[in-house]
Amino acid sequence: MATFYDAFMGSMERAGVGAWRQGLLAGVRGRVLEVGAGTGANLPYYPAGLERLVVAEPDANMRAKLAKRLAAVGSAAEVSDASLEKLPWPDASFDVVVGTLVLCTVPDPAAALAEIRRVLVPGGGFVYLEHVAADHHPGRLAWQRRIEPVWGVIAGGCKLTRRTSETIRAAGFDVAGETRESARKSLPLVRTMVRGTARSIDVPAPSPSPSR
Ligand SMILES: C[S@@+](CC[C@H](N)C(=O)[O-])C[C@H]1O[C@@H](n2cnc3c(N)ncnc32)[C@H](O)[C@@H]1O
Repeated sequence: MATFYDAFMGSMERAGVGAWRQGLLAGVRGRVLEVGAGTGANLPYYPAGLERLVVAEPDANMRAKLAKRLAAVGSAAEVSDASLEKLPWPDASFDVVVGTLVLCTVPDPAAALAEIRRVLVPGGGFVYLEHVAADHHPGRLAWQRRIEPVWGVIAGGCKLTRRTSETIRAAGFDVAGETRESARKSLPLVRTMVRGTARSIDVPAPSPSPSR
């Protein structure tokens, strides 16, 4: 995937996804972790003066491209091979976690989001951009369901029909302010996208069972 990823994404990036990334990242501050950073498509959009920027990518081929992009943009970000199954940082290590086009691929998105929430400070922001199930386009959704098994094989395990906003909310984040929009110049299968900054919130403890 590392070989063709940038070429595959190029027209979408130029037609709007790049501007979405820029808008999402313009306001990030403090200690920032990007997970599943891929070839580094977000790197040009991070503001200067961050206290810390760590870019994590478990795939060695993707990481090689990421290293080249870091050099090209003159970024001093730290590189990590961490994957979302187990992030090697203590609780509350980051003010912001960024994950774009990653939750479609991880085997267990709920577990990944629990890890993201763990390393965020309370109230910290999870910046996301994901393609999702085309719930408002029944024809497109039917095709997503049909193609998903084959797509997973050619696209590194990517799932087409995830309802990622719901999963983010269920993991203890406030997703108010999310934008759902079709990506231009994209394959219809991955055209429906959501993006935003979800805030980690306190999940109320389960209420005690009524005494008899
Ligand atoms: C579709 S690419 C997206 C790359 C980049 N974030 C972007 O926006 O262009 C998905 C990335 O997620 C990474 N990935 C897959 N499974 C992962 C996991 N369990 N933990 C962290 N990253 C993972 C892949 O190696 C790949 O680089």
